[in-house]
Amino acid sequence: MTKLAKLNFSKAETPKGGVAVILAGSDLSLGPVAAEVVSGLEGGLQRSAGIAGFTGKKKASLDLVAPAGSGLDRLIVFGVGDAGELTGDDWRAFGGAVFAELQKTKADAATVLLDVPGDADPSGVLAAEFAMGVKLRAYAFDTYKTAKKDDDKPKNMKVTLAVADPKASKKAWSSAEAIADGVILARDLVNEPANVLGPVEFAEKAEELTALGVEVEVLGEKEMKKLKMAALLGVSQGSTRPPQLAVMRWNGGKKGDAPVAFVGKGVVFDTGGISIKPAAGMEDMKGDMGGAAAVIGAMHAIAGRKAKANVIGVIGLVENMPDGNAQRPGDIVTAMSGTTIEILNTDAEGRLVLADALWYTQEKYKPAIMIDLATLTGAVLVALGNLNAGLFSNNDALADKLLSSAKSSGEPLWRLPLSKEYDKIIDTPNADVKNTGGRWAGSITAAQFLQRFTNDVPWAHLDIAGTAFGAPKDDICQSWASGYGVRLLNQLVADHYEG
Ligand code: BES
Ligand code: MN
Ligand code: ZN
Repeated sequence: MTKLAKLNFSKAETPKGGVAVILAGSDLSLGPVAAEVVSGLEGGLQRSAGIAGFTGKKKASLDLVAPAGSGLDRLIVFGVGDAGELTGDDWRAFGGAVFAELQKTKADAATVLLDVPGDADPSGVLAAEFAMGVKLRAYAFDTYKTAKKDDDKPKNMKVTLAVADPKASKKAWSSAEAIADGVILARDLVNEPANVLGPVEFAEKAEELTALGVEVEVLGEKEMKKLKMAALLGVSQGSTRPPQLAVMRWNGGKKGDAPVAFVGKGVVFDTGGISIKPAAGMEDMKGDMGGAAAVIGAMHAIAGRKAKANVIGVIGLVENMPDGNAQRPGDIVTAMSGTTIEILNTDAEGRLVLADALWYTQEKYKPAIMIDLATLTGAVLVALGNLNAGLFSNNDALADKLLSSAKSSGEPLWRLPLSKEYDKIIDTPNADVKNTGGRWAGSITAAQFLQRFTNDVPWAHLDIAGTAFGAPKDDICQSWASGYGVRLLNQLVADHYEG
């Protein structure tokens, strides 16, 4: 992983040298300090903007050779549109878009003057959102790129955000940075190839969270056998690499308060097993641990900003391989809950891992709510594409909380149904339940399967197969892995389970 930006905050004043960015609203309206900066421009900003057709429209930019005597090399004017109507989402996107402009200059350092006309000056939370946008945009997965010529080496640019209230901005950034680091951790894990990141290595990543005050416990194969987790173990049995179940606990809330529980699918590689997948695109299945990555990233964010809540993260880590010892279609296993499962397709493995992880979480930790995240079905891509994760829940209040936090975090969700009728589709004469309901409504029947392992706890399932990786690149993500879910889970805790 490379972080291409080093961030700091300073007082808003006319930048003295190098590359500077100022923001302009619609009709080229400027904040007071930006107005000072352009006062040295020959013909004012109007002249250059007129020639370039720049009007201050959202995310448009105008790159100017800086006015003589200003001491600057370059002045970039970045449009923010109607400055009075900007949201946190906008400021985060601006951070990403501005950093992209800065990267083109190949400068070592730059100052971004965050003042806008009116009383919408982004200090504190909004400046921190901007900084998060810079940091997330600056993420690149290039661990394995060797032999770079000096010229091609990405530069680590020093970005100074000049703001009205640096103290307030720094304080907000200390929380926002923990969230950004959580997103970056999740991206790194999803991007990492499966030869490097097996279940054991993944569990070690969870253990590293102890540095933030998270309690971490890792169960190995022996412990899981004792707990009778035959659904999870059945998936893993074709792999030479042993399964792991990692439990992370952040006790930031009142002692004795039931925790919020996050449960993640962590299939480090999904070949499909004996029901093997076609070769084309199979490499993407190194990302089949995107749910577990989101959970670990969210725990990082929550612990990093010292959230006042009790939160636990449970991740089931396995590899799904074809092998002489692999599970077969037709096999029947008994999950930890006692439910018997007929395996009709060994490629429907995520739900088997989650069946035991969910049951364990609910039985052992008696959570107030339980949310699982999983790259569970290709069908959710058919339904929603890369733009929304699928939300399923047995509880309308929880679903509404998630939908509202999805909005405020900018990680969108769309609710899909559960019902008795859909549930019937996964009945089988041979056992209590079968692990696939066929092609139609594939995401829903997968969710129905999970629901059979959740009892009555308020529970939600997020199918992130479309959003965890391979989504279109945008202002704040240029990487294959998005880190989807980290900001959403963190936001849910912040909005509804703290204080
Ligand atoms: N990991 C896959 C789902 C997936 C597909 C994630 C594409 C990301 C992108 C999952 O384990 C799987 O193979 N699901 C099957 C289920 C089917 C066999 C019932 C699917 O979606 O085809
Ligand atoms: Mn599969
Ligand atoms: Zn899978």
